[in-house]
Amino acid sequence: MTTNPAYTLCFLLYGDEVLMLHRRFPPNQGLWNGVGGHIQPGETPRQAVIREVFEETGYHITDPDFAGLLTWEGFEIPPGGIAIFTAEVPHQEFVSNHEGELAWYSRTWACSAPEVVDNIHVFLPRILQGEHNLHYHFEYQDGVRIKDYIGPLPEDFNPEKPFQPEETPTEEQRGEFLLSFDNERIQLEVVEDFITRRTYWGLGRSKKLIETSIQNSVCLGIYHLGQQVGFARLVTDQATFAWLCDVFVDEDYRGHGLGKWLVDAACRFTDQQGIDEVLLATRDAQGLYEVYGEFRVLESAGKWMIRRRKSAS
Ligand SMILES: CC(C)(COP(=O)(O)OP(=O)(O)OC[C@H]1O[C@@H](n2cnc3c(N)ncnc32)[C@H](O)[C@@H]1OP(=O)(O)O)[C@@H](O)C(=O)NCCC(=O)NCCS
Repeated sequence: MTTNPAYTLCFLLYGDEVLMLHRRFPPNQGLWNGVGGHIQPGETPRQAVIREVFEETGYHITDPDFAGLLTWEGFEIPPGGIAIFTAEVPHQEFVSNHEGELAWYSRTWACSAPEVVDNIHVFLPRILQGEHNLHYHFEYQDGVRIKDYIGPLPEDFNPEKPFQPEETPTEEQRGEFLLSFDNERIQLEVVEDFITRRTYWGLGRSKKLIETSIQNSVCLGIYHLGQQVGFARLVTDQATFAWLCDVFVDEDYRGHGLGKWLVDAACRFTDQQGIDEVLLATRDAQGLYEVYGEFRVLESAGKWMIRRRKSAS
């Protein structure tokens, strides 16, 4: 869960009314939302919201109130965070923008109308009643909000901290194929279909389990013209340990070196991190790992131990 939000959202207030934007573009296309947008690298959320409000509405707000942190997962865009603000404006004349139609609505409408982005119904009533500095986390599945969390702000969250984007993940291009370490590119359905239906080790894993395992690992994907055709996962602290697993290449793309590319890129990554020992287990692909990753059968297998959870054995 991020404490480094990349977006702002602002509810501009005039008396009993709230300025709402009917979104022309995804995400939440066709629904009413507050105004706001991306935080630029080096900008604080407050600086970003002042700029965004001016760009989208023409209002010069000077002292917006930080109202809460919104985070999500399982939504139409990758997990992330939004710093929410409110600001009073001195009149109702705004400047139109290309993001969508702007209109003033009553606070009651903004807090409850079905045309409004649904999670607003959860946090805006609280914010408008003066309950600031809360953290709202929403979980979605298949486009539906399935879980709400409302609690205190994460301790390490600071709305005045300049935004620093995560390091750009490594990407390599070979002809029409892209190898990427960007977890946000991963096509969960492809990985889930492969692991749960076409491997000897992952049959029966749930979609949620696969999603969690991806979120908490360094993953490699290979994409052919945007379509995911290969995958590998490194379970690693990126300092002392790595476990290479879930390596696969789509049947239609095998035999062209993509498996070797995955193994080689994974090994270059762990070498760069200074990780001395990388483990893996394989039933029949020793040749791939021995030749292309310099893996060896454990000569000291006797010193390794494994614990199995009782229900898993
Ligand atoms: C294993 C797998 C990822 C290889 O992908 P690929 O793109 O076809 O592999 P490449 O074209 O890069 O070549 C793989 C090399 O490893 C060798 N190899 C050794 N064992 C292998 C195995 N069990 N399966 C495939 N290749 C194997 C191949 O012979 C080839 O070497 P060569 O070109 O010197 O003959 C792919 O076959 C796959 O997804 N298999 C099903 C899932 C799986 O078993 N994953 C490994 C789990 S440990």
